[in-house]
Amino acid sequence: MASSSTKRLANQVAIVTGASSGIGTGVAVALAEAGATVVVNYHSDAEEAEKVVAHIKEKGGKAVAFKADVSKENQVQEMFRQTIEQFGTLHILVANSGIQQDATLVDMTLDQWQKVIDVNLTGQFLCAREAAREFIKRGVQQDVSRAAGKIICMSSVHETIPWAGHVNYAASKGGLMLLMKSMAQELAPHKIRVNSIAPGAIKTPINNEAWETPDAARKLLELIPYGRIGEVEDIGRVAAWLASDEADYVHGTTLYVDGGMTLYPGFADNG
Ligand code: BGC
Repeated sequence: MASSSTKRLANQVAIVTGASSGIGTGVAVALAEAGATVVVNYHSDAEEAEKVVAHIKEKGGKAVAFKADVSKENQVQEMFRQTIEQFGTLHILVANSGIQQDATLVDMTLDQWQKVIDVNLTGQFLCAREAAREFIKRGVQQDVSRAAGKIICMSSVHETIPWAGHVNYAASKGGLMLLMKSMAQELAPHKIRVNSIAPGAIKTPINNEAWETPDAARKLLELIPYGRIGEVEDIGRVAAWLASDEADYVHGTTLYVDGGMTLYPGFADNG
């Protein structure tokens, strides 16, 4: 086990949004294991967020829970303000919060459309903006990281793969792709690295219907050439690497972590 000073995210402060469940929890745990102090943001489930914090602490890491709705400007600003007040600054943002409100196009309500855009896209903008403001103000701390800050957007294979019955979700992730790249272009001169992770099917509450019965799981596996459904740890490990200086030259890109879901598996024996 690496000592705390040799861990690759030692002395760094991270905010992970939507960290009380699913991929966010996996990322928060992995960043803490790598030495970061982690703000475990949650929307409503304080108990689950506190469990994540307790788990991190048990393993010798540092974490606090913070309630904020990422789609609300004042709540996001307050979360960043308090984080910076408590820990001095911020080095890593993993903007992970995301929701689904599924319906066919003709049945989709404006509310379903708007909620998904608000959380999945506006939430990314609001969090990235606050992170960038702090990173620009503080600049590079050579002894901590080569970058002034790292922004990781949690996207999806559906930033590329169209998704019938989920037009709000696919539109939010497609929009996120160019939000991330445009921010990357704009923030590079400030030494701020901006990237996305695009998970495929990862076993979490958001998609439990897709894997919880053997039939559903079999169907889902047809879409995954590598032959297994992902675990949140698969994403956590990638996030910890992407946030570290080992990935210092990785900028403005989407890293697909999907067991090959984006390889058009339907073409393997057809076309
Ligand atoms: C969605 C999941 C889905 C996966 C692969 C994710 O972005 O949130 O519900 O299983 O993409 O389709």
